[in-house]
Amino acid sequence: MLLFREKIPPDWLSKILANLPAVLIDHAHLERKAATTALNLEKYRDLYPRVAELNAIAIEELQHFQLVLDLLNRRGIPFGQPYPSPWISGLMKSVRRGQRRQVVDYLGCCSLIEGRSCEKFQILARELQPFDAELAAFYGSLVESEGNHYAAYILMARAIDPAETDRRLDFYLELDAHLMRQPNPLPMLH
Ligand SMILES: [Fe+2]
Ligand SMILES: [Fe+2]
Repeated sequence: MLLFREKIPPDWLSKILANLPAVLIDHAHLERKAATTALNLEKYRDLYPRVAELNAIAIEELQHFQLVLDLLNRRGIPFGQPYPSPWISGLMKSVRRGQRRQVVDYLGCCSLIEGRSCEKFQILARELQPFDAELAAFYGSLVESEGNHYAAYILMARAIDPAETDRRLDFYLELDAHLMRQPNPLPMLH
């Protein structure tokens, strides 16, 4: 697992637990965006050989999206607007132009997003257990898949350019640490 350089802010968990319906809507959009991101990566020449792998990730993310929608449905929560995530847009803003640089950067951002999701879903699986066993089990069931996506994106970037991947991961870990320290009052996963 990535060695993140900043802890999740201490108020994150209480904000999440106090606003589960809004968090589930935010989560649904996250899975939707994860599916479209995997499909968008298929336009890069360097990733043509990985198109089947990217399709498999997109299908899995779409299944996650449907699972969250089913949860919303069972709980009588209407699907709604997403919150824009300053953390995700902060990472994405630093993606450089130029085919090769752009694809390595996108893969670096995606791996960090998957890695942070994996970390946060593990926390939620543990913390929700005493009072919402269904949701705890749901988050627990996603941990392995998001961890695999994290690893898959790093491996794809390293196969394109290992030295550049390591340089950019170092940059993105610093940026992640910086962005994690910015206050975000909204109840969002990221
Ligand atoms: Fe997912
Ligand atoms: Fe994922």
